[in-house]
Amino acid sequence: MSAQKFATEALHAGHDVKTNGGTRAVPIYQTTSYVFNDADHAANLFNLSEPGFIYTRLNNPTNDILEKRLAAIEGGIASVVTASGTAAINTTLLTLLKSGDHIVASSSLYGGTYNLLNVTLPRFGITTTFVDPSDSENFKNAVQENTRVFFVESLGNPKLDVLDLKAISTEAKAYKVPLIVDNTVATPALLNPIEYGANIVIHSLTKYISGNGTSLGGVVIDAGTFDWSSGKFPEFTEPSPGYHGLVYHDVIGAAAFIAKVRIEGLRDYGAALSPFNAFQILQGLETLEIRIKKHSENALSLAQWLLEQDEVTWVKYPGLKSDAYYKLAEEYLPKGQSGIITFGVKGGFDSAKTVANETEIFSLLANIGDSKSLIIHPASTTHQQLNQEQQESTGVTQDLIRLSVGLENIEDLKTDLKSAFSKVAERVK
Ligand SMILES: Cc1ncc(COP(=O)(O)O)c(C=O)c1O
Repeated sequence: MSAQKFATEALHAGHDVKTNGGTRAVPIYQTTSYVFNDADHAANLFNLSEPGFIYTRLNNPTNDILEKRLAAIEGGIASVVTASGTAAINTTLLTLLKSGDHIVASSSLYGGTYNLLNVTLPRFGITTTFVDPSDSENFKNAVQENTRVFFVESLGNPKLDVLDLKAISTEAKAYKVPLIVDNTVATPALLNPIEYGANIVIHSLTKYISGNGTSLGGVVIDAGTFDWSSGKFPEFTEPSPGYHGLVYHDVIGAAAFIAKVRIEGLRDYGAALSPFNAFQILQGLETLEIRIKKHSENALSLAQWLLEQDEVTWVKYPGLKSDAYYKLAEEYLPKGQSGIITFGVKGGFDSAKTVANETEIFSLLANIGDSKSLIIHPASTTHQQLNQEQQESTGVTQDLIRLSVGLENIEDLKTDLKSAFSKVAERVK
């Protein structure tokens, strides 16, 4: 999407000022339910012959504006917002999959998603093969007769590997399965996976899109490009017992998947976004494009500086010329490489914990994408439940520190890290 279009859509898409009482800011419709005109109107809403609001677990006017805006900036046809990024992933997978189905996923995933696929979904008969995503052939080789989706992160958290989405989507097309891309770290301001063949895009809105660390949220965006009548998804081509015999593909067409996420996924799993959170996220979205540029600039500058520090053994940031993913970043992330850096320190696990303990501006906490700078030692926290082999396949080594570089003055950030490094120097002397 062109920069001009993005900036305008991020401020205006989905908000019809006239039908929202002339409000310049998007109002918070803090209501659970909506009064029907009469019994026929109610019946029409429930049988989908008329559009409208029924109950906030299914839809809400504030959420609706956020949904239209997010679909517009990702280039999708429609979206559904959810209570968190995890809810977006789970609701998507549980809408598409049933016991006996199989996922091929990148091994380089956020720890919570890895656990969902590796431990929780198998309890319900849904299994995953994790593959090294740096070679798209690995996806092909992992496909089974019961494979129904490919799942990846465009810019892996915390491995920071930039994926070759074009190559992976070619494999997904060959096997007639949708490619689901979690685009949280890259954000739609830097990368639009749909342009490279993604069929479904997911975000944790908790991160850069809201940007202020106040509100959990998630979104599922449908590109409208997947052919659900390929034979692998009879739940779209046969009458749905979950919605009085509705044949989604025939009645709803290209938007069949996202309709099912709302009318069965939100209805049955219940992970709806609070309208108040939708409002907060809309405030953040207004400035996403300028914030993510600054996050990217600060992160590149800090990564270059880290390379020169004695206590630092390695640095990963896809904007660094020396980085393994620099070439892919030039292709997929030319506008900036986002705000996450990982690096190792001399002395391994204990030194990394010391650095995380000693910074003052960088807050020690489990989040990314806040305007404030954040630090964490994943091996002892977010990835603690994984064994060492699993940790390493998700990109987490014992000495790894993850920074989410905020919008503060860059010299202050360097001074803060330098002071924490001096404690490591004392430890490893
Ligand atoms: C890449 C990615 N996807 C999904 C999530 C989950 O989002 P949430 O915390 O909003 O459930 C996270 C959280 O850190 C993440 O980093």
